[in-house]
Amino acid sequence: MTGTQQPKSIDDLLEVGLLNQWYLVCRDTEIGNKPVALKRLNRDLVLWRDKSGKVNALEDFCPHRGARLSLGNVCNGDIACAYHGLQFNGEGTLTATPPTPDSAFVGKKLAVAYPCREAQGAIWVFVHDGTLTGEPLELRFPDEFTNGEWSGFVDIREFEANWQLVRDNQFDPVHGSYLHVGTHILDGGRKDADLGFERQEGGFVVWRKNQQGVNLDRTWLTHYPGSGYWAITDLPYPKKEGGGLGRLFRYPTPIDRDTTLVWNYRMQKMSGWKRDAWRFLYRNRGSERGEHVLEQDRVALAGISKGAIHRESLLQCDIGVAHIRRLYRQEAEQQLNALTSVAAE
Ligand code: FES
Ligand SMILES: [Fe+2]
Repeated sequence: MTGTQQPKSIDDLLEVGLLNQWYLVCRDTEIGNKPVALKRLNRDLVLWRDKSGKVNALEDFCPHRGARLSLGNVCNGDIACAYHGLQFNGEGTLTATPPTPDSAFVGKKLAVAYPCREAQGAIWVFVHDGTLTGEPLELRFPDEFTNGEWSGFVDIREFEANWQLVRDNQFDPVHGSYLHVGTHILDGGRKDADLGFERQEGGFVVWRKNQQGVNLDRTWLTHYPGSGYWAITDLPYPKKEGGGLGRLFRYPTPIDRDTTLVWNYRMQKMSGWKRDAWRFLYRNRGSERGEHVLEQDRVALAGISKGAIHRESLLQCDIGVAHIRRLYRQEAEQQLNALTSVAAE
């Protein structure tokens, strides 16, 4: 078991975030050869690159007497604690104890290490429950990230809201016709929802039976065990900007109980000069407009109180929200049972 806090109940686990899966924690450019402190899933982490450029993540806690490792510096690729100089590598192994060089602790894995990957312009950390032995589950991405036909950008920002509100928002296509009215790509369409729902391999799809290709009219879930519950949404583009459907890819990264790292990959299926033109237009105008839409979400979600879930009145148009909540709760239940049985051993 790690020295970090462990969830006490399903609701507690859900409030902080599902464990044993990969989370986007920051942009790849944010981590260099100096320690960087990040809070993710209410855990304090320190990240740095070693001599080979590989990114490492440890609990931001020195196993000597608890100082924050992020206050230290990188020494020969390892992290050296600022307080008494103990050094740890990316696996959490103590590599040197300068004050008492012959310590028997040298060579022992004392710090909590979190596996890291660098992919799609970001750093991904496998946030585990402390029972991880060996390699973590594979970090997987939807096909659009790897088949070479799609191109895109990631937007990363913080929301002052629990991550579950962000997740619910991502499986709620109908709010596009209300909250985002007046924005350039989500301006039109019907107000009545009439949602269809269907289970499919790896998840489910919700779509508007009475409209497609106009607003947020189709969202589906792709779930890879250990690699998140991806919400994927078709995103219509105005004709004057080339038309067609783009796609949004996301699942939230909890920071703490009240804050969330919201990231969105916006992708477009284009090649050749059209791809170059779209990337140019996006950089110059599209990203700004996308920010406006996200800002509307941010303000709306920040205003929802923590206890609101106990006073809701769900409608037919909340079918995606109800279903994704159920899936997360089931997984939280399994994770808590597994943790409880390990603790009992
Ligand atoms: S607390 Fe880190 S070396 Fe002493
Ligand atoms: Fe939205």
